[in-house]
Amino acid sequence: AATTEVDIGNIAEGQIVTVKWRGKPVFVRHRTKKEISDAEAVPVSELRDPQTDQSRVQKPEWLVVIGICTHLGCVPIGHEGQYEGWFCPCHGSVYDTSGRIRQGPAPLNLAVPAYRFVSDTKISIG
Ligand code: FES
Repeated sequence: AATTEVDIGNIAEGQIVTVKWRGKPVFVRHRTKKEISDAEAVPVSELRDPQTDQSRVQKPEWLVVIGICTHLGCVPIGHEGQYEGWFCPCHGSVYDTSGRIRQGPAPLNLAVPAYRFVSDTKISIG
């Protein structure tokens, strides 16, 4: 289907769930307060691909990103790397808790797909 509905009501705070959308992995991350404040505290001027955290989320507790490293397309591993966002095992790109590239060869942040909240406990991707 062009859109994928995800029940987020059972995703615990701190948990990342990977769903498939158009054959691609999408990470749905229920961020903790610390993960949110870490992401919001980063000066945009320090970023390779400068985007505020606020511009990447609809609700601070929920980060939704395409799970494909913007270097050469591997799937990064969650809760790993210096910023506890994601770490890409292929060539060492490091993403923060907003999915923004912080270290390593990847040029861009993890992409945010089109999605909307159908209800407080359900999102529709695509
Ligand atoms: Fe992720 Fe190269 S594919 S660092």
